[in-house]
Amino acid sequence: MQKKKAGMPNRESWETLWINVNIATMVESDTDYGAIFNGALAVSKGKIVWLGTMDELAVINYSSKQILDGKGKWLTPGLIDCHTHIIYGGNRANEFEMRLQGKTYEEIAFAGGGILSTVAATRSASEQALLASAKPRLMALHKEGVTTVEIKSGYGLNLETEIKMLKVAQLLEKELPVTIKKTFLGAHAIPIEFQNNSQGYINEVCHNILPAIAEYKLADAVDVFCENIGFTLDETKQVFEVAKKLNLPVKIHAEQLSNMKGSELASTYNALSADHLEHLCEEGVKAMCNAKMTAVLLPGAYYFLRETQLPPIELFRHYQVPIAIATDSNPGSSPITSIQLMLNMACTLFKLTPFEALAGVTVNAAKVLGIADKKGKIAIGYDADIACWNIEQPAQLAYQFGVNPLTVLMKAGQVVI
Ligand code: NIG
Ligand code: FE
Repeated sequence: MQKKKAGMPNRESWETLWINVNIATMVESDTDYGAIFNGALAVSKGKIVWLGTMDELAVINYSSKQILDGKGKWLTPGLIDCHTHIIYGGNRANEFEMRLQGKTYEEIAFAGGGILSTVAATRSASEQALLASAKPRLMALHKEGVTTVEIKSGYGLNLETEIKMLKVAQLLEKELPVTIKKTFLGAHAIPIEFQNNSQGYINEVCHNILPAIAEYKLADAVDVFCENIGFTLDETKQVFEVAKKLNLPVKIHAEQLSNMKGSELASTYNALSADHLEHLCEEGVKAMCNAKMTAVLLPGAYYFLRETQLPPIELFRHYQVPIAIATDSNPGSSPITSIQLMLNMACTLFKLTPFEALAGVTVNAAKVLGIADKKGKIAIGYDADIACWNIEQPAQLAYQFGVNPLTVLMKAGQVVI
């Protein structure tokens, strides 16, 4: 440690300094966004190295290569979309029309459409074609301030195509300045070659596909669709057991269409999250609380499937289960690539406060991806993934939809938009 000589304070030397900004730090606080008004923030080597008020900055001896004058705008952490399925072939506009004529999502799935129709299109698409169709989806999220995205596999349902999807996810990270977290969702549906033999497919996932994915280090987590049109509790458990042996954290699509108690099962594996949750009961919320899980709510799927059963928001608040919000962007239940729309829908459909909605795509979304120690907040030592918004108060991020208020996006300390 260098000693400071009296009267000669060390000179701070920074790469980039934001001045005249209001900062929604999202550092632990219940309602006020952890706000710093009339603040400043310094960045070096991709990290946040200083933050405080302009008055505090005024008494510091510093230099900065670059100064960004925010002129009263707001900074938030770069947004995190913690649940997506943006890599897939084809589209399901025909099923959308069928649903409008009265068929349900479940009926379409049981008749061999739904996820399986996307599986067919994804299997026949080349890696290049999947990359080309996923890139504009990722770009749409990025342009709205997203700097980290989780992408699931699950439209391959065989080793070759699951690998293809996860490789495309890896490639996307090279194409755009967005951190990608990859999730293996091999247990998403029962592929045609295992029709009426779900145990046969689960054996394939457990003994062949998942171990290979883990060996190639293609996944950061393992997800299962536990549902009447997906997998049973027992089948989900078998996949979780293998994930545990492979040291991969788990998460679950649960309680979307019925209450199968998937979230409770996931809690016994200390899952990162349970997602959807419209049909979750109080026991399930308690189990999630005890296991320190995060509830991922997906208002886009609720809206697009015209669901009416609301997730148990009051119980999440009561038991202090953190709530994350994500797009669930996928061709069947949420063909939406707007995180800003999700902020709005989280409030209008689920009655979250604008603060809870923003926490849902920052600090709580980071928990879901196991990166809460470096992303999702504006704090010293955190990654300098920062969005600058032309708004007067943070609630505007959820209040309006259609005009994109993003003015600057910084990723790892570099201005990328
Ligand atoms: O999160 N619920 C399961 N999986 C997706 C939908 C997949 C699809 O319909 O293609 C979801 O809603
Ligand atoms: Fe999903």
